[in-house]
Amino acid sequence: MPILEVENLSVSFKQYTVGLKYKKSTVISSLDVTMEEGEILVVVGASGSGKSLLAHAILGILPSNAITSGVIKYAGEELTPARQRVLRGSEIALIPQSVNYLDPLMRVGSQVRTSVKNGNAQAKQREVFNRYHLKTEVEKMYPFQLSGGMARRTLVATAMVSGARVIIADEPTPGLDSAVISEALNHLKEFADNGCAVMLITHDIESALKIADKIAVFYAGTTVEISPVEHFSGKGEQLRHPYSKALWRALPQNDFIPIAGSQPHPNQLPSGCLFAPRCEMAAPDCEKVRPVMRNLRNGMVRCNHAT
Ligand SMILES: Nc1ncnc2c1ncn2[C@@H]1O[C@H](COP(=O)(O)OP(=O)(O)OP(=O)(O)O)[C@@H](O)[C@H]1O
Ligand SMILES: [Mg+2]
Repeated sequence: MPILEVENLSVSFKQYTVGLKYKKSTVISSLDVTMEEGEILVVVGASGSGKSLLAHAILGILPSNAITSGVIKYAGEELTPARQRVLRGSEIALIPQSVNYLDPLMRVGSQVRTSVKNGNAQAKQREVFNRYHLKTEVEKMYPFQLSGGMARRTLVATAMVSGARVIIADEPTPGLDSAVISEALNHLKEFADNGCAVMLITHDIESALKIADKIAVFYAGTTVEISPVEHFSGKGEQLRHPYSKALWRALPQNDFIPIAGSQPHPNQLPSGCLFAPRCEMAAPDCEKVRPVMRNLRNGMVRCNHAT
């Protein structure tokens, strides 16, 4: 049984225009994803494709003007707002994309200690600081006294001591040097090896492939493909969705060919397939109805023409 299931998730924001009039802008639509214990799911996709919002929806920390539909389940049971409050930080931990999530008024050592689930909090905090090359004096500092990289390592350390069974790491490595990146990724791998489920959201596909089991590709607020990691190789012939193939080929180490056009804005989503306007394979039917996610070759795809 998957430890975490996201089924048909949609997220919209209510935005007031004039007076009491508002428009709804849909930033995530019919998104599906599942996480298994012991597995690393890597989430990739363009900026603004809904990756962080998915993380926030799972944790129950979306802003109050967000309207959601669909179901999120943890260990087979629906994650209601009440359950999210209980499980957040203990069973399900977030390594947030922004270092602003650190409490500005609390010394960082204390912040990490409050997250320790089992054992001696101070000993655990010192051990994890040592692991992340944070000197002992850092524990007495406030977040504003940390460099960007130190703040990031503090966030990773907080999740690492939490004893959570699901770790969602939202772009945990930007601005870190390559040795610290591979160390952070190795720690995530260790987590998965100990039976946790890890979701790694990243733009650094190349590094992530080294530890990934499955890759979910996001486009304009939905999943377009779920693929085993092995299929991200060669020219991307084994990938299913035209966007995943194009994203793979656009990497500098591959053909370095950018994808023409741009991802549609949430207020201007096409009525059919969201990728159709940029797709070389688009047929007339693609512009009519939104494709549904279907199983294909040990993965999933949201494209009627993928083979
Ligand atoms: N509070 C909000 N109100 C309205 N729109 C929002 C809000 N937060 C995010 N969005 C919109 O939702 C979409 C998805 O945002 P999200 O932060 O999930 O992107 P992302 O995939 O994490 O991007 P990145 O790779 O840059 O971190 C974007 O179009 C963004 O503008
Ligand atoms: Mg993000």
